[in-house]
Amino acid sequence: MKKIGILSSGGDAPGMNAIIRSAVRVGISKNYEIVGIYRGFKGLLEEDFVSLDLSSVADIIQRGGTFLESARCEEFRKDEVQEKAIEILRKHNIEHLIILGGDGSLAGGLSLQKKGLSVIGIPCTIDNDIGSTDLSIGFTTAVETVSDAITKLRDTSFSHGRANIIEVMGRECGDIALYSGLASGAESILIPEIPFTVEEVAKKIERGKRRGKRHHIIIMAEGVGDSHKFKEELEKLTRTEVRLTILGYVQRGGTPSVVDRCLGTQMGSKAIDLVSEERTGRMICYCCGNVLSKDLEEALKEEKKIDKKIYEIAGKVSI
Ligand code: F6P
Repeated sequence: MKKIGILSSGGDAPGMNAIIRSAVRVGISKNYEIVGIYRGFKGLLEEDFVSLDLSSVADIIQRGGTFLESARCEEFRKDEVQEKAIEILRKHNIEHLIILGGDGSLAGGLSLQKKGLSVIGIPCTIDNDIGSTDLSIGFTTAVETVSDAITKLRDTSFSHGRANIIEVMGRECGDIALYSGLASGAESILIPEIPFTVEEVAKKIERGKRRGKRHHIIIMAEGVGDSHKFKEELEKLTRTEVRLTILGYVQRGGTPSVVDRCLGTQMGSKAIDLVSEERTGRMICYCCGNVLSKDLEEALKEEKKIDKKIYEIAGKVSI
């Protein structure tokens, strides 16, 4: 029986469990043995493996996080460490590896592929900062979580007549800020891809106040810069009290959205299909409503672009 290893690496993302469950069950139905590798590349180097059967993935589709656990592994950038990983996998007769993670983890996978292993990558990151796919697993759940938080903050923003800044994750990508801002009617959306000034935000607050508006929600992507400093500057420029909430790691957890569960299930199944078709060095992507695969190296080169039309609509509807 041929063995396929599966691991989750880097920042966890809701929906990873749906992928693992699907890969295990579809893989077993195609007569593969699926070996779970704990804590990503770290667990691989420690040979922390478990053979997964049909019931080992029961009751996980609705859970956030990843039951295989995750870790960041800086040393995996080194050539000799990657060689060691391949040696370990060969020793355990694992010929194929499915990697769930963000761009760093998938780049690690590409190095293994170039060294002779068969690798399939699945984009998982709440940041949605991988250019080759419209959606990364975990993103839609994070947007729900942030939108829910904004809805709550809007109540207190109104009661106290304050401006509330909410800093969200995303590294250099503004997608979490943009889509949660759009979904929750934020008055200002600040993202790294689009330049803005604190004066413009202050003017918008003043305009709103003149129209009798009591709240102002500013959603700020972490890639934009120092939110504490921004808050101080904004307070100086307006006659308004400003409060800052950094949402932090709450964005990474929680029950996966229906999209992350369904898409995760399709991506896990697609990964097994690719292995059985002997197509390796591929990344699973979601493009224009289709789950497909692209060459891993090419996919990692694709630049992530913000959807400017969505940004413009958000600007028009948030007055
Ligand atoms: O998962 C992506 C992300 O949440 C980024 O938005 C954030 O900057 C980073 O991971 C922080 O994660 P950690 O502390 O686990 O490295």
